[in-house]
Amino acid sequence: MNPKGSLYTVKNYEYKIELRGGYMEIQLWREILSPYQLAVDELVVKFNHIIQEYRNNGQYSPIEQVVGRVKKISSILDKMNKKNLAIEEIEDEIDDIAGIRIMCQFVEDIDRVVEIIRNRKDMEIKCEKDYISHYKESGYRSYHIIVYYDVYTLEGTRRLQAEIQIRTMAMNFWATIEHSLQYKYHGNMPEHVRERLYAASDAIVALDSEMSSVRDEIIDAQNLFTIKANVVSDILVNIQNLYHVANKREVLKIQEEFYQIFATQDLEQLERFCRELDIIAEGYKAQSLR
Ligand code: GTP
Ligand code: MG
Repeated sequence: MNPKGSLYTVKNYEYKIELRGGYMEIQLWREILSPYQLAVDELVVKFNHIIQEYRNNGQYSPIEQVVGRVKKISSILDKMNKKNLAIEEIEDEIDDIAGIRIMCQFVEDIDRVVEIIRNRKDMEIKCEKDYISHYKESGYRSYHIIVYYDVYTLEGTRRLQAEIQIRTMAMNFWATIEHSLQYKYHGNMPEHVRERLYAASDAIVALDSEMSSVRDEIIDAQNLFTIKANVVSDILVNIQNLYHVANKREVLKIQEEFYQIFATQDLEQLERFCRELDIIAEGYKAQSLR
């Protein structure tokens, strides 16, 4: 019995609760959590698409990776106990049932991601917590945004809360390790471990700042890589299409030329070759339209 007089039995996703003497109807966890799964899936797709848009444009993406999860039932139960919540209260009181984590390469990228989220019409910001300027006592660093997000279910529109955590990959590395240790020690972490983790969090700040100092060079290198990959992919699509319309000898010649240019590792030559192929492809298209 918790102080509110609720009794939890979790079995096959069923959640029975006896509330203040009266029986509340049996709730299926799956039913409660299903719209949150939809929210997580949609949000992950949307943030991944942002990455794709940047990369397709040959631009650097401030988002490196995005992951999402629906909070585990056991963690929801833990939080209900900790905050003394009834089941009707969880959707209002637990703001991270839907959780999205966005990893960035550099600290500077975090602000850009926050700006992207602030400008969106499909996510309404409830609050922001800046644990980067004001890091936690543990040494935890991350930027949190709680948003309201609409999902469309058979029952109609549901406005849900979701927590978006934005951090560098280095901060994520630290948080992951620290979280495991917190779990291991059930919140009673020995002082010497806590101290080491705190020292490690300083090392993470130093690492992020070192990386920031070479950010421009890293971004240039990565952009060149993406642009080259895009050009090569365009060229190959063109060659593949030419197989259907041009004669085989000509295509083989073009293919040969491609390998020669590719071997030079010269992006400008590749781009010029790509434009030439575009013109050839256009020519065939014009012929076939006659
Ligand atoms: P919660 O009840 O834990 O959600 O705390 P809160 O409502 O005050 O929110 P807060 O923004 O502090 O924390 C939300 C989430 O951030 C947590 O669920 C964790 O995923 C993460 N977090 C917060 N503090 C720490 C920390 O010290 N270490 C790690 N590893 N993660 C943390
Ligand atoms: Mg929280």
